[in-house]
Amino acid sequence: MAKRSLWGSKVGFLLAAVGSAVGLGNIWRFAYMAYENGGGAFLVPYVVALLVAGIPLMILEYALGHREKSSPPLAFARVNPLWEPLGWWMPTVAFLGINLFYVAVISWCMNYFCFSFTGAWGADTGAFFYGKFLQLSDGPFNLGGIRWPILGGTVLTWAIVWLICYREVSHGIEKASMIFMPLLFVLTLILVGWSLQLPGAWTAIRDNYLHAEWSKINPFDAEGIKVWVAAFGQIFFTLSLGFGIMITYASYLPKKTDIVGNAFSTCIINCLYSFIVGFAVFGTIGHMAQAKGVAFSEAIASGPGLAFVVYPEAINQIPVGGRIFGALFFLVLIVAGLSSAISLTEAFACSICDKFKMSRKTATSIICGIGLVGSMIFCTNAGLYILDIVDHFINNYALIIGGIMECVLVGWILKSGVMRRHVNRVSSVRLWPVWDFIIRFVTPVILLIMVGGALKNEFKEAYGGYPVFALLLIGGGILFFTRMISFVFSHVKWDPVQLKERHHEPEEDDLLV
Ligand code: PHE
Repeated sequence: MAKRSLWGSKVGFLLAAVGSAVGLGNIWRFAYMAYENGGGAFLVPYVVALLVAGIPLMILEYALGHREKSSPPLAFARVNPLWEPLGWWMPTVAFLGINLFYVAVISWCMNYFCFSFTGAWGADTGAFFYGKFLQLSDGPFNLGGIRWPILGGTVLTWAIVWLICYREVSHGIEKASMIFMPLLFVLTLILVGWSLQLPGAWTAIRDNYLHAEWSKINPFDAEGIKVWVAAFGQIFFTLSLGFGIMITYASYLPKKTDIVGNAFSTCIINCLYSFIVGFAVFGTIGHMAQAKGVAFSEAIASGPGLAFVVYPEAINQIPVGGRIFGALFFLVLIVAGLSSAISLTEAFACSICDKFKMSRKTATSIICGIGLVGSMIFCTNAGLYILDIVDHFINNYALIIGGIMECVLVGWILKSGVMRRHVNRVSSVRLWPVWDFIIRFVTPVILLIMVGGALKNEFKEAYGGYPVFALLLIGGGILFFTRMISFVFSHVKWDPVQLKERHHEPEEDDLLV
């Protein structure tokens, strides 16, 4: 049997995992969430979510990947063959549900990176983004035509992802992460430093980001509970949990690995990054609000609106070097996005390689080709609508259901004690028995409440004001379609030896330096 790829160094693995976690969500989701949900007070539910769901699940995913030394489908099948479809579902959703639009958004960032130098967005940045750039149609079913500049960036992004995933893990993903991550941290620090010295930045940060509105996080009232649900959702998305990505990355680890320490480091670096980059977001928007004489609440927006409408407007207001500032901001988004897109591709590619015994080169070439074709729907005039609907369903259902199932599989079917002993055999930091309790009871119950809450909202009002038919067809469709694919793939028989054997190569334990 072919030898499994291995990371070349501890730091290489950690940077790749952090690269997956740190993405567009850290920059445009976290800051807005904090703002909407009590400012500094949001940090309380956020940190609680990190401790009760984020870190325990990160340990779980690392432990499962490491123990089984395989991609999610094979890892799940080894614990219990009936669970293989779920093992397929997670990377399939990651690839078809998220990666396809994620790449298109990176392409928007590439376009905006170029626009930064020319100031192409003009004074009315909203009209430019929705009207001139996206040429948004009137609904999700009116695809219109292809937006060629967006397709151009999409092709380029897929080409980069392919070039990196095509190579052996230690030469491809690891090397790329060793370049991307330090670059990202340096660029981010420059961005934050620059933002902080803009007039009005500190006041906005103090009054809107750090100022705590404690009444908003009261878990005993209906509004407060929403803040807690939002915090758990954000932790899940930001740590790339529930997609099988961390299972895949951990499967390339050697036998002796500090699973607990690595899980803590990944989570903490990622969350600190979000917190720090928040200073840049609030500082820049605060400066714009002051320059234009409007309230901060009128200036800020969420998601794509923040990056592609508010930020360009803020860049217009920067007295010196605005163009370079803009280019820097979009470069940060591109680098953060690329390393996440790579991980989304890798989880699916690794699953295909394991099951169909395909070479990495063949699998990644086919997958990136399919990815490019699939991403084209997000390059049409209806791209933003479809993206919004798909994102809503994946975040609220697929990811959380994936997390619950992982807890059931490891907590109840394999038994969390078995996994904890495995972790303690290989890690230097010990995992306490409280982890069993969290994985078996606390995390799945909280996640169940979240899915219940999301479902309830679905019946109350149509998400985003879209026609119910569109939500069912696009959102429900992607969940159903990915589920079908996972059933079909699960029906292919495993090679019995592969199903039984976990080929840890002891001599390679010494490789990690
Ligand atoms: N964690 C990434 C972000 O915050 C998104 C992502 C989710 C990447 C799931 C991979 C898998 O943007």
